[in-house]
Amino acid sequence: MVIAIVNGPNLNLLGVREKNIYGDMTFEDYLDLLKARYKQIEFKYKQSNIEGELVSLLQECDKDSDGIILNAAAYTHTSVAIADTIAAISTPVIEVHISNIVSREGFRHTSLIAPNCSGTIFGFGIEGYALAVEAFATKIL
Ligand code: DQA
Repeated sequence: MVIAIVNGPNLNLLGVREKNIYGDMTFEDYLDLLKARYKQIEFKYKQSNIEGELVSLLQECDKDSDGIILNAAAYTHTSVAIADTIAAISTPVIEVHISNIVSREGFRHTSLIAPNCSGTIFGFGIEGYALAVEAFATKIL
């Protein structure tokens, strides 16, 4: 099984950025943990700070992945383009957020992408990605 993890803007700064909200681990270190835990899964990891690049990355992942885990970060709350891409592709997408977005500022309570995703996981810290992997690995989706 091939799982693509696609991270949006500022998630390249995990481990440095607002550690009280996002924790102190870099995504690269976390990805190593995931790979060690799920040896049977092939992970592809992409990150971009640019909305159009995320659209292209999702389209590419649709061709060679069985599942996509997407943290669109701030674009979650603004991007019709990314929402449309998720609707256009056939690979299931699980939306993940590290923080509890509904306990934060009002503008984070709305996800434009959620209606087009298979499911959403938020508020479990960085381990939300593992919960999404588990959903794919156990064929919940
Ligand atoms: C985030 C939540 C978003 O509101 C925010 O813009 C992010 C990260 C999260 O993982 O908690 O950059 O997606």
